[in-house]
Amino acid sequence: MGVGRTVSAPRRRPACAVREATAADVRTLVSHRRKMWLDIGRDTPSSVREADRPYEAWVRRMMRSRRFVGFVATVGEEVAGSGAVWLREEQPRPGMAEGSAPYLLSMYTEPRFRRSGVATAIVKAAVRWSRTRGYRKLELHASKAGRSVYGALGFERTWEMRAEL
Ligand SMILES: CC(C)(COP(=O)(O)OP(=O)(O)OC[C@H]1O[C@@H](n2cnc3c(N)ncnc32)[C@H](O)[C@@H]1OP(=O)(O)O)[C@@H](O)C(=O)NCCC(=O)NCCS
Repeated sequence: MGVGRTVSAPRRRPACAVREATAADVRTLVSHRRKMWLDIGRDTPSSVREADRPYEAWVRRMMRSRRFVGFVATVGEEVAGSGAVWLREEQPRPGMAEGSAPYLLSMYTEPRFRRSGVATAIVKAAVRWSRTRGYRKLELHASKAGRSVYGALGFERTWEMRAEL
């Protein structure tokens, strides 16, 4: 009989599917966004709640003008997480008269689905979506929890700067 060494079974990656969000998913995107802010923990619960309505109106408006695409990750019948790409208007610069640039935002994975590749699958879908449309870069602001996910996928820190006014 072998020595009683506990070997934890390898965690199986759930079959996670990522699809583009429709208008029917907006409430889910808003709820994930709210839970993202709460997890980040910088704002008060009441200010986070108050942000729901304007965010929902903004998402619907951006979706109608095709400047926002949500990505919903499902595992079986359950929604496991979501994220979104917003096409931000860009200022004219050499080599680009005017245009837009994709920005990844509102990444959230339901706690019970964390650390199984859900966010990674969403980021990959967002990268694919952006690349297919000819965009050469995808930007984002990473929370502490998100940094390793993006870093593992090749995202690098940039030289953006800011001052608190
Ligand atoms: C950040 C967040 C979206 C990551 O979601 P996630 O679905 O757990 O992310 P992934 O599973 O793709 O990757 C997370 C970790 O799991 C690991 N992982 C991925 N697949 C795995 C698997 N099959 N088995 C075990 N671990 C796995 C990754 O290597 C990564 O490890 P690390 O953090 O040690 O580098 C999630 O923690 C979250 O919603 N946080 C709160 C809101 C937030 O901060 N959002 C980001 C805003 S920028």
